[in-house]
Amino acid sequence: MEKLMIAGGYPLKGTVRISGAKNSAVALIPATILAESPVTIEGLPDISDVQILKDLLEEIGGTVEFSENDMTVDPSSMISMPLPNGKVKKLRASYYLMGAMLGRFKKAVIGLPGGCHLGPRPIDQHIKGFEALGARVTNEQGAIYLRADELRGARIYLDVVSVGATINIMLAAVRAKGRTIIENAAKEPEIIDVATLLTNMGAKIKGAGTDVIRIDGVDQLHGCQHTIIPDRIEAGTYMIVGAAAGEGVLIDNVIPHHLESLIAKLREMGVQVETNDDQVFVGPAEKMKAVDIKTLVYPGFPTDLQQPLTSLLTGAEGTSMVTDTIYSARFKHIDELRRMNANIKVEGRSAIINGPIQLQGAKVKASDLRAGAALVIAGLMAEGVTEVTGLEHIDRGYSHLVEKLNGLGATIWREEMSKEEMEQMKNV
Ligand code: EPU
Repeated sequence: MEKLMIAGGYPLKGTVRISGAKNSAVALIPATILAESPVTIEGLPDISDVQILKDLLEEIGGTVEFSENDMTVDPSSMISMPLPNGKVKKLRASYYLMGAMLGRFKKAVIGLPGGCHLGPRPIDQHIKGFEALGARVTNEQGAIYLRADELRGARIYLDVVSVGATINIMLAAVRAKGRTIIENAAKEPEIIDVATLLTNMGAKIKGAGTDVIRIDGVDQLHGCQHTIIPDRIEAGTYMIVGAAAGEGVLIDNVIPHHLESLIAKLREMGVQVETNDDQVFVGPAEKMKAVDIKTLVYPGFPTDLQQPLTSLLTGAEGTSMVTDTIYSARFKHIDELRRMNANIKVEGRSAIINGPIQLQGAKVKASDLRAGAALVIAGLMAEGVTEVTGLEHIDRGYSHLVEKLNGLGATIWREEMSKEEMEQMKNV
């Protein structure tokens, strides 16, 4: 097992290229199940979530070729193999196998998904959608059993705006009989990306990216080629890196429109941010000012950038308040930031940050993916060396993080953990 070592305080400069979007990739790959002939997805990120989904498609009989960042899936020999345990438990997005397998085979058995622990993460809205389409859904010993004689289009109002439920219902509905209408749908760019792939496969979808999506079911879907959108959360993370430790960082392969809420907040803090068609330049701030943030569904401020931004706010003058309205317990990084000398307290769904504080290097643990990003940013800002464990979380979502940061002039490396350190980790 490895840990990440970061020597803080080095000024960062240069260009970093953003990879394909993790939260699109984890839906696009299961979506290939719905086709009858090979589908190619170009520009996938090199992350462990993608690797696990590739293995799962092979487990159900798919033929998958994956080289560099492009994956071709031949789904023609797939069968609805039950996947109650094993790799499905490793990532939250394995729930997309439910919608895709139900859509193609009218049956599926999928273990309840894992993923980052951010407080309660129910899937009741996904199930409500599947049932409305005519599926019988039962939970037996930690696995979800789905079965339908036939899927029929329905009008589904989501009680909670959910990215996962919106995509999952689209996956199940594209081959259902008749029209499905999803009301109060989520509007994230990843939903448009999945709808684009499905449309290229022959599906009939209108309104993706708005809160009403209309799907007219078709009998069959065919193969196609699709290029994934850039990862707005990875891009946002590097924008924050640029603000935290940069002397001019250019983020390349990004859709700036996807990041308007972060751009506005960084500017409000006094950070210089310039954009063009597919790049964002982040310059240094003379002095950063405290700001308040409330996470909201897209196009509001993304919950996935709340943790990285909290690290940056430790360096801002004044008191900032970060409120997460999406996840009640996405604050596990705060104790670790405190170990690094941050002055932060958590009250209910808010973190209150007093700054500016000079962070100090320390031994810290990433409890989830974006907590990991937050600790890396803190390590870059800190005096001395920071050791980050829990790398398996970071590897789930950040492609070539060490190489990309070193490319900007950071001093960061992976190191094998000693036996004693591994023992200590187990006892925590
Ligand atoms: N919710 C329900 N019932 C449901 C579904 C969701 O109550 O059936 C609640 C959740 O508990 C949460 C809110 O609705 O409070 C929003 O959840 P959503 O379903 O939108 O989240 P998700 O689809 O499970 C995706 C991303 C997350 C990201 C959220 C919010 C993927 C694989 N994950 O999760 O990404 O935080 O949307 O934008 O797309 C990450 O990348 O680090 C990450 C956690």
